[in-house]
Amino acid sequence: MIRDLITKSRSYRRFYQEAAIELETLRELVDLARLSPSAGNLQPLKYILACDPQKNALIFPHLAWAGYLKDWPGPDEGERPSAYIIILGDLEVSKSLDCDHGIAAQSILLGATEKGLGGCIVGSVQRQGLQKALDIPSRYEILLVLALGKPKERVVIETVGSTGDIKYWRNSEDIHHVPKRPLDDTIVD
Ligand SMILES: Cc1cc2nc3c(=O)[nH]c(=O)nc-3n(C[C@H](O)[C@H](O)[C@H](O)COP(=O)(O)O)c2cc1C
Repeated sequence: MIRDLITKSRSYRRFYQEAAIELETLRELVDLARLSPSAGNLQPLKYILACDPQKNALIFPHLAWAGYLKDWPGPDEGERPSAYIIILGDLEVSKSLDCDHGIAAQSILLGATEKGLGGCIVGSVQRQGLQKALDIPSRYEILLVLALGKPKERVVIETVGSTGDIKYWRNSEDIHHVPKRPLDDTIVD
């Protein structure tokens, strides 16, 4: 079951934008992050939730999408995420944030997948601009933005070939391919 969930939980970047996500759904997803491991159990993460078009429109311009797809600037209007969860580090709780946000992000995305949604971790964020656009107090550091929605694209996993190229790509049918290294290449000993 966990293998199926992880396999299904791909990075999606095109969505049925009109398929709204309720605030309560986002709260349930953050609750999964809340229950996840935290270094020293400090729990320094806080979250901003967005699921209305006005707030979403403030977030979208500060995100960069799919760096390897040079000819694709990101999802068009109509295919943009219908919700976001912004993961913040509360610097008043801890100055060192370790890797809590990565774990939280995966918990949220697995929960979203279970609910029939999909999303993408966005680390390439214009942080200053987003901090200003949402009037986020300086005690909070923007760590990651999770884009969420009902996926409108097919994403398939393939095995990295002999060239060793790990860049994801889209074929002529617009199917997004994600090369993953073979298991034996990832285990050192
Ligand atoms: C920490 C982190 C940051 C990422 N940042 C971005 C990003 O800024 N923009 C984007 O389109 N995808 C981003 N991704 C998604 C990766 O590109 C994606 O995980 C990778 O291509 C593998 O695809 P998969 O998630 O379907 O396995 C990020 C993923 C992680 C884990």
